[in-house]
Amino acid sequence: MTADPHAEIPLENLSLEQLASLTSGRSTWQTTGITGSIKPLTLSDGPHGIRKQNPHAEDSLALATSVPATCFPPAVTLGSSWDPELTGRVGAALAREASALGVDVILGPGVNIKRSPLCGRNFEYFSEDPHVSGIMGAALVNGIQSRGIGACVKHFAANNQETDRMRVSADVDERTLREIYLPAFEHVVKQAKPYTVMCSYNKLNGVYTSQNHWLLTEVLRDEWGFDGLVMSDWGAVNDRVAALAAGLDLEMPPTGTDAEIVTAVEDGRLDRAVVMTAGQRLVELGRRVARAERYEDWDVDAHHELAREAARAGVVMLKNDGDLLPLDPAARQKVAVIGELARTPRYQGQGSSHVVPTRLDTAWDALHGAVGPDTELTFSPGYPLLSTDLLAFLEPDEGRVAEPSAQPADNADLLADAVTAAQSADVAVLFLGLPDISESEGKDRTTIDLPAEQIALLRAVSEVCSRTVVVLANGGVVSVSEWQDTADAVLEGWLGGQAGGTAIADLLLGSHSPSGRLTESIPHRLADVPSHLFFPGTDGHVVHGEGRYVGYRHYDTLGADVAYPFGHGLTYSRFDYSDLEVEKTGENAWAVSATITNSGRLFAEEVAQLYVAFDETHPTRPRHELRGFTKIGLAPGESGVVRFALTGRDLAWWSASRQDWRFDAGTFTVEIGASSRDIRLRAQLVTPGDNVVEQLGPMSTLGTWLTHPVGSRLIADALGQSPAAAQLTTANPLILEMARAIPLAKFEGFNIGLTAEVVATLVEAAQQTE
Ligand code: BGC
Repeated sequence: MTADPHAEIPLENLSLEQLASLTSGRSTWQTTGITGSIKPLTLSDGPHGIRKQNPHAEDSLALATSVPATCFPPAVTLGSSWDPELTGRVGAALAREASALGVDVILGPGVNIKRSPLCGRNFEYFSEDPHVSGIMGAALVNGIQSRGIGACVKHFAANNQETDRMRVSADVDERTLREIYLPAFEHVVKQAKPYTVMCSYNKLNGVYTSQNHWLLTEVLRDEWGFDGLVMSDWGAVNDRVAALAAGLDLEMPPTGTDAEIVTAVEDGRLDRAVVMTAGQRLVELGRRVARAERYEDWDVDAHHELAREAARAGVVMLKNDGDLLPLDPAARQKVAVIGELARTPRYQGQGSSHVVPTRLDTAWDALHGAVGPDTELTFSPGYPLLSTDLLAFLEPDEGRVAEPSAQPADNADLLADAVTAAQSADVAVLFLGLPDISESEGKDRTTIDLPAEQIALLRAVSEVCSRTVVVLANGGVVSVSEWQDTADAVLEGWLGGQAGGTAIADLLLGSHSPSGRLTESIPHRLADVPSHLFFPGTDGHVVHGEGRYVGYRHYDTLGADVAYPFGHGLTYSRFDYSDLEVEKTGENAWAVSATITNSGRLFAEEVAQLYVAFDETHPTRPRHELRGFTKIGLAPGESGVVRFALTGRDLAWWSASRQDWRFDAGTFTVEIGASSRDIRLRAQLVTPGDNVVEQLGPMSTLGTWLTHPVGSRLIADALGQSPAAAQLTTANPLILEMARAIPLAKFEGFNIGLTAEVVATLVEAAQQTE
């Protein structure tokens, strides 16, 4: 531990120029210091490994030549583990490496919502669902900050695509923002108290997030209580003065425009106090990270092992017909391993999160090392892989152990060799996936299909080998509907980080049971995706026209078929669900519990998911929404109880007119299941709602008046004095229903005693009693 170098900092004594300099970095990865008082802080990507710039490299972005560090699985894989405890341990390990590398703040996690599978950066995000994103994001922040290193939650907010990311306006209605795009940030800010937040590049409803006062100050600080520092994404500031005034404390990297701040203060366009506050937040950040645990090094083997555990936990077994998996490593059998990705793995995405690993496992080596003498393994590349690492073209990575294969001359030869190997094999295990070049920060995909030559390879192999397994490597979902019938088992391995190859072997050979679950739905076709008609927008705008119906909220509400639903994932065991109990524990608070029993023959983990369902009395809600999950490991025959807490907020919707959360009176269904389409238990809870009564006005409908506790009495008295009104109340139900939908003021010409004067008197009387 080092002494606190920020104990006494007389910010008031700094010149305006010095103050202004604090609001911008001093270099690409460092904040500005003031000699003798404020220490510069080092920031580094993030999020799944430390990308510390090599001090001897000329590459200022450190994309290709950063110092080796453990490459943990990216968020797509970590998220699929549905395991906050494991994620916390990864966070703590990241912090230890950051500390050893002299890094104060890790630029992650990213908790943006996977609105479309095409988003090039989906591998860096956790889920299509805000609850999963929030819980997993908070777990990572808690883990990182448990050692005193700072985390940086990004990209705030509505950065759901890479196309035109530096200019596009994400046009999102307020309710959708509050219910889909902001809650993960809100949860992380409130529960994990990250030291920093990074604004996104894009505009939100026409205003750059870097200069969006509503977002950075009113929501983030005033409502959610954020007390840390807000920095820009790299190059996201367009107007220094507007950004500071909106609540952005630090521009990164520096643009040499501090004089603009000075001039604005001198001209009276910017309050000096705003600059001072930003400076204070930087000083406070320095104080916080000065308390971090400081290490010289880390246990490279132990962190590699943790990366393997995390990779394993995130693999999702999509199908396993006839229980083909696991393969018995001791069996007398011939296994044809096919696919260049088995020996040249794709293990992380491209862009700013790219980490130079400390080592790199391949599935081919791992399988080789794990099978017994009676299992014969063969390897055939099957298809050409352009490169496993885009950046290897720029600079060779020192940390790499596997080199990309030589470029084969003829695809047909590769396919023929693989088919020959498969012909005499008992099982063919095909490693398929997306090439590096197709998934990267800075660009979106245009298709969710696997490369055509890989599908052709699978078809050809499955014709000659009756038992085929597919292992996928991809950062965003790929469609499986076109080819999955030709495979008996499919493991979605995502991007496994540096130990992903070994993790896959662990699962194929059954030393562990798969325990990952989908955090995003797999659609049959790209055209089925709810955002498809709007993504990625045009003419500077991307309208979020599907609103709150993102992912399973869309598919499940419409009953639309998907290839695999949100939450899905198989194991080598089976689980029974029983004894759902919902107990009221307070006003608008409930405790929910259920029993899970492992009824299979192997130890395995289940992810019990809690959804709140909305029936037809809640017509503007999705069919159901995830509000809790628990991963539980059970031995064969063992039972365990999973517990959840529900509050009014879990039932709530955002009312733009009231600028607050509302929840209606009525009956809600609590569902417990193994996926959004595999609900095993249901129970109801009844709530009186939030008891908020609508404020009555002349344009409130007759129906609203009639159901209002005060309005109903007032209106009954008023109508009682009019004979014509009696006709209305005794009219047939259809007329009455129509009348209930009419605003009170509109009855003026109806001659039922509701003249403008009467309505004005009623409104006044109603408002006086409110
Ligand atoms: C990315 C951020 C990253 C930053 C620094 C930006 O391009 O959007 O996620 O932290 O670069 O590398």
